[in-house]
Amino acid sequence: MATTATHTRQLIFTPAIRIFHWLRALAILVLVLTGFYLSWPFLVAPATNDIQVQSYIRFAHVVFGFVLTAITIVRFYLFFFSRNDIERRSFKDVMSLNSWIVQLKSYIWMGHLNKAGIYGPLQFVTYVAISFVALFICITGLVLYANVYHEGLGGALWDVSAWFTAQMGGLANIRIWHHYLTWAFIVFVVIHVYMAVWSGIRFKHNSVDSIVSGYDYHKDH
Ligand code: HEM
Repeated sequence: MATTATHTRQLIFTPAIRIFHWLRALAILVLVLTGFYLSWPFLVAPATNDIQVQSYIRFAHVVFGFVLTAITIVRFYLFFFSRNDIERRSFKDVMSLNSWIVQLKSYIWMGHLNKAGIYGPLQFVTYVAISFVALFICITGLVLYANVYHEGLGGALWDVSAWFTAQMGGLANIRIWHHYLTWAFIVFVVIHVYMAVWSGIRFKHNSVDSIVSGYDYHKDH
């Protein structure tokens, strides 16, 4: 932590968290765009199947799907086992009714937001929820994958995919859940970007910049 006369600079996001944040943002963008195309392949004339547009788009979807799956696993691991506990510390606030009240009041411009970790309780709970949505979209994606590619990893995943498909009441349900959850990401990203910009202005802290540089830079108070 570096301090000037009136400002404090504090490293809040480790390089791993920043790199995975932007890789995940890229993966989600590509997956939403290619996913909607897979759902409604409007570029290929119905009279021919001699054009590979669908395969190329599906290939990009699957490659970024594996990127997202890998990051989802690593991020779950880092949350629990990273040497830096700034994320885990927020759990204290989640368990404290007072912290919830302080956060919700600060959103309507009443008082300051004092947090034990880096996230407020509502923010923390939202990130946990979207992490589980990511896990679920990865599982349903891998089940769809196993139904498109029967060899290699697809083949290895076949038995567990068949079991999961049975639990979900059939492949059509897997597909429809994979599709619905796409919208959860769209809703999340819009609110997430808005809140990142808004909270930087509201609380006079670095916010969007911190997930690029890692540093929060704010006035002492
Ligand atoms: C943010 C993450 C993701 C989003 C938004 C997303 C979105 C979509 C959408 C909208 C579809 C079309 C479903 C339909 O037919 O209506 C789709 C299909 C598919 N997704 Fe994803 N997906 C994501 C992650 C993944 C992951 C992690 C995998 C795993 C590799 C995956 C594999 C697939 C496969 C194999 C299909 C079927 C492609 C086909 O029709 O041949 N997806 N996805």
